[in-house]
Amino acid sequence: MRENMRDDMLRVLLSEEEIRAKVKELGNVITQDYHGKNLMLVTVLKGAVVFLADLMRQIEVPAQIDFMVVSSYGSGVKSSGVVKIVKDLDVPLADKDILIVEDILDSGLTLSYIKDLLQSRAPRSIRIVTLLDKPSRRRVDLQADYVGFSVPDEFVVGYGLDYDEKYRNLPYIGILKPEVYSV
Ligand code: IMP
Ligand code: MG
Repeated sequence: MRENMRDDMLRVLLSEEEIRAKVKELGNVITQDYHGKNLMLVTVLKGAVVFLADLMRQIEVPAQIDFMVVSSYGSGVKSSGVVKIVKDLDVPLADKDILIVEDILDSGLTLSYIKDLLQSRAPRSIRIVTLLDKPSRRRVDLQADYVGFSVPDEFVVGYGLDYDEKYRNLPYIGILKPEVYSV
């Protein structure tokens, strides 16, 4: 990792301005759809926190937020998506309209597991908003209800997304230079 993170980027995929405009657009649609509902935004740490922080301020109906922390069980997890809940939600979901806020929907394995888990608690409704979607990578039948950008199958960082816990604080989304992985 160089001193200037920009030097590690092959190119910028989505600029700050493009992201801002899209988040505003998503916020408007969600605002319309959740009038009269009991919206709770659920975010799985950590990647989606930047998106959550921006998106929630573009939603004009009342919304609660809550966080989950999950960890992988180790080998075999990649194929099943089964995760260990390290921090669960703080409140019951019975009267809630849940909107899961995700940074990127890739294989969909983890999110599919989490959606089923939350569904079993019988919320009023449950939907998914993802900033980025990589549909070509999907391994389970899962779609987001709201998608910011559909992206090609390239590893992206920034705006919350990390490579080895780095680059989350970039204000844009970029594609890393291959050499960054190989050193
Ligand atoms: P999946 O949908 O269960 O395969 O996992 C999605 C998670 O993998 C995301 O929440 C990210 O943490 C991570 N991920 C997938 N693709 C990327 C990427 O291109 N850059 C950074 N993280 C990624
Ligand atoms: Mg991640």
